[in-house]
Amino acid sequence: MYSESRILCPKLKQKVMSAEDAAAMIPAGSNVGMSGFTGAGYPKAVPNALAERIKQHNAGINLENGEKPFRINVWTGASTAPELDGKLAEVDGIEMRLPFQSDPICRERINNGEMNYVDMHLSEVAQNAWSGFLGKMNIALIEVVGIREDGSLIPSSSLGNNKVWIEQADKVILEVNYKQNARLEGMHDIYYGAALPPYRKPIMLTEPAQRIGEAYLRCPSEKVIAIVETNSPDRNSPFKPSDAVSKKIAEHILEFLDKEIKVGRLPPELLPLQSGVGNIPNAVLEALDSGPYKNLTSYTEVIQDGMLQMLKSGTLAMASATAFSLSPKGIEEFDKNIEFYRNKIILRPQDISNHPEIARRLGVIAMNGLIEADLYGNVNSTHIMGTRMMNGIGGSGDFARNGYLSIFMTPSTAKEGSISSIVPMVSHVDHTEHDVKVIVTEQGLADLRGLAPRQRALEIINKCAHPDFRPQLLDYFERACASGRGMHTPHLLNEALSWHQRYEETGHMLANSK
Ligand code: COA
Repeated sequence: MYSESRILCPKLKQKVMSAEDAAAMIPAGSNVGMSGFTGAGYPKAVPNALAERIKQHNAGINLENGEKPFRINVWTGASTAPELDGKLAEVDGIEMRLPFQSDPICRERINNGEMNYVDMHLSEVAQNAWSGFLGKMNIALIEVVGIREDGSLIPSSSLGNNKVWIEQADKVILEVNYKQNARLEGMHDIYYGAALPPYRKPIMLTEPAQRIGEAYLRCPSEKVIAIVETNSPDRNSPFKPSDAVSKKIAEHILEFLDKEIKVGRLPPELLPLQSGVGNIPNAVLEALDSGPYKNLTSYTEVIQDGMLQMLKSGTLAMASATAFSLSPKGIEEFDKNIEFYRNKIILRPQDISNHPEIARRLGVIAMNGLIEADLYGNVNSTHIMGTRMMNGIGGSGDFARNGYLSIFMTPSTAKEGSISSIVPMVSHVDHTEHDVKVIVTEQGLADLRGLAPRQRALEIINKCAHPDFRPQLLDYFERACASGRGMHTPHLLNEALSWHQRYEETGHMLANSK
């Protein structure tokens, strides 16, 4: 099929087949561990063929006769792309999904109650799979760059949970993607020393640039039941150019970091950066790149366009992650200059890239997005109006709780100003007041370190809330304080979630909006 085969193991070469034949080997009800993390390194052909098979099967069944629809359980590293989550969700082929998704069709099915979703800390997935909490993994479906003579695998543009899926699965299906750059070989560092308690040992990684593992995935050849050759790129959307709001947020963060350096709480080269995905984190990276910084490091989950730029300019000396999350332009830049980037980027399994012990030891500066925060600093990153799932917690909890600094950022309003991102009480909690050190909006930055709840409330209202909502927040807070109920964290319980209710009823969180 290709002029130069990337399958060098003679025994495995015989297992090459079409995506349709490989998909036919996945039984209904299977737990399938797929590769893929933020739109990188996911299988691109078999999920599509499986979705077609599911569609045909389900069209021909009679539910009244007790025939069951064909569905599978999909476990991945994190989000994938329309060819995987989108296709399978479209045909209602997913019974249960974990640990993270951001696909619009999946989201709709989850919120309609048609798909179960287990939203998990990304660092914990491996441990939960090893412990058997998730059930038996039947099939691992993994994209790779190539297969070596000894049967070991050259990983693709993400590592995620691939090591665990291959270890745990009864059978393995591989997609060898010729579109992925062959020079990815050697960029991975796969740690094979992880164990469950009480046999767990410290992970001896003391700086982001350290290598502690192997460059290839081990895979027993006898487990491999099918290999499919593909030639498709990772699909990611372009980042929005920085707007006035994201620039302002970035400005506040830079000012804060400069102050921390001046008072000696951060070294000039900062501490390893973790940056969440999205437009605002990318804008912060852009701003850092235009600042005075040199030789920064990053210990994060994903490499975004902004990080490539920082590596190029020397702002960043190296980056450790589990996956790429590049725009089409970013992929082009990476492919063109891979010889430059390959010595500066290390991709690790997600139980290592997001490991709480390592994040705490390195003192990561965690910067993530939020949906809403409350007066006391509790953060909701996942739910719209308390009930509807947006994406999931992803790695934000791994880094926010364990990092040295946890910074959460958001525009101060959403939906054309009708929603305040600062509310009396969050409608869902992902990060508690104990884990949130700094909140930033375009209005300003609230430094919550060392503050008691009532002090935090004033700091957040005065620094972060949009001026349209500030008086209403102050009014709530003052009446809560005057209510004579508990003064540690004052609340009016019958009003705490009334802003959300008002929005659902009137389309605006302000009491007297016109
Ligand atoms: N109420 C209702 N909707 C809200 C809202 C709120 N308080 N705040 C934001 N939204 C909506 C926005 O209007 C937007 O909707 P749209 O897609 O229809 O335009 C959407 O949520 C996304 O908001 P946006 O401001 O564009 O932020 P983002 O793309 O930076 O995403 C999170 C913010 C919180 C959804 C995102 O950071 C996330 O999924 N975080 C959890 C996972 C994580 O942190 N991973 C990082 C670890 S590496």
